[in-house]
Amino acid sequence: SYQAKINAAVKACELIQLSFNDVRIVGLGTGSTVKHFINACENFLENKILVPSSFDTALHLKNLGFSKILDPVTASAVDVYIDGADEVSVKLDMVKGRGGAFLREKSIALRAKTRIYVIDQSKFTGKPYLYLKPVPIEIVPVALPVVLDYIKSLENVEAVLRMDSSKDGPVVTDNGNFIVDLKFTSPIQEPAVMHERIKRIHGVVETGIFPSFLVDYVVVGYPDKSILLQ
Ligand code: A5P
Repeated sequence: SYQAKINAAVKACELIQLSFNDVRIVGLGTGSTVKHFINACENFLENKILVPSSFDTALHLKNLGFSKILDPVTASAVDVYIDGADEVSVKLDMVKGRGGAFLREKSIALRAKTRIYVIDQSKFTGKPYLYLKPVPIEIVPVALPVVLDYIKSLENVEAVLRMDSSKDGPVVTDNGNFIVDLKFTSPIQEPAVMHERIKRIHGVVETGIFPSFLVDYVVVGYPDKSILLQ
């Protein structure tokens, strides 16, 4: 909910200011919870160099008046990375990508010293496996028939090309690629293994599976409190 996301955002801002010294470069994910974080932490972010993971986040920063914005193509080091997520297990494996920005999100997470995710309680499943959300994959457009054929040959998974409801045709990512959502009919017990298996398919650039090694902290917001997982 709205208040739960704000509670997570405020807690994450406190965490950064209390626990990390010398934060100079801050990476920012994509989505409504990240926007709450940016709004809640505006004063702290004011003199930082910001590395947005999407056009959406970059435009939000621009609209708020931030000017020290660095493209991830040239941001070689990131001190702290803040992002949302779509599903988080008790092992802190995650699914991301509802917003279609997971390729750039993962790329920034991989170069960040500390990674903090902010979610509302609906995303924290309490399960040791992933099962709740489809796993998005970003694919090079020309490979679409090969990818769909390959997925068809697998059991327990259905592939759906993500369509853009605001125009005719598929969603095109900030990288000029397509997104295919994989709906698994059984839980993903070993997310890192599943990620590697999908990555081997021709044309797949990245998956929305974020194994726990990409996660340092998760702040879960509830309507009346927030909790910190690590
Ligand atoms: C973007 O691609 C996703 O990975 C987002 O991090 C995720 O969808 C979270 O969005 P909300 O904060 O709006 O739920």
